[in-house]
Amino acid sequence: MKAVIYYYSGTGNSLWTARQLAGKLGDTELVPMHRPNQGSHGSNVDTVGLVFPVHIWGVPSLVRTFLQSMEKRPGVYYFAIAVNAGQVSRTLVQLKELMARGGLTLSAGFDIIFPSNYIPWGGPGPVAVQRKRFDAATEKINAAASYISNRNSGLLEMGPLWQRVLFTGLYKMTYNLVKTLDKNFQIDGTCSSCGICERVCPVKNISLEAGRPVWHGGCEQCLACIQWCPEACIQYGKKTKSYERYHHPEVQAKDVFR
Ligand SMILES: Cc1cc2nc3c(=O)[nH]c(=O)nc-3n(C[C@H](O)[C@H](O)[C@H](O)COP(=O)(O)O)c2cc1C
Repeated sequence: MKAVIYYYSGTGNSLWTARQLAGKLGDTELVPMHRPNQGSHGSNVDTVGLVFPVHIWGVPSLVRTFLQSMEKRPGVYYFAIAVNAGQVSRTLVQLKELMARGGLTLSAGFDIIFPSNYIPWGGPGPVAVQRKRFDAATEKINAAASYISNRNSGLLEMGPLWQRVLFTGLYKMTYNLVKTLDKNFQIDGTCSSCGICERVCPVKNISLEAGRPVWHGGCEQCLACIQWCPEACIQYGKKTKSYERYHHPEVQAKDVFR
């Protein structure tokens, strides 16, 4: 088996998942979705994975854009992992439908839960709870690896019906607004002009002007900028000053540099 895993990750949970899975599957290349011209895998690749975070109860727009450019070849086994904080909702069903429109069959979709990086609603939670999630994620990745290695198909994990109904409506309502939400970022006085926010942004939406980050209205809302800022000087709305920052403990900022 020769596999490629395309991943998208703001704070490292999805990258870590992709790495662990690659280690289990063997002969697997990891490719970030945000690098242009990265959607074409060689003819020797027979397994393709998509690993990405759930954003606003659905598939992030960066992943949707990536799908449009991804090479489509018959005979390839496709799987996906929707990395999330406990509300996968209808994300994998949506992905399956999006892929079907492009003539692709999603054979397996796994829901894996990590600490939340959605800082406007709070921090990642107590360390003991985070540890439980990492342990459960490790077990789930192992199970996914054997499912994929055996080329099983049919598994498509999803949230309960109420979640899929309610949150799919919210996803549709907010999807077109996401890029403009970067107007809610502010800088407080401690910015050291290190430029890490600029480098972790997957879509070049941040530049330093007079030593301060400026957002340009093309935000993906991955929240990498606020979460990786070493001074914790980027705020989003009024409450984030008091919330703990988060990134996966085994992933470093340089691992997600664009
Ligand atoms: C804009 C945004 C929206 C999110 N929406 C959801 C959601 O609908 N359901 C959920 O369970 N987690 C949600 N999350 C949490 C992330 O999916 C979760 O923390 C994930 O592990 C982050 O992965 P990453 O570190 O690879 O970026 C959201 C995070 C962000 C930044």
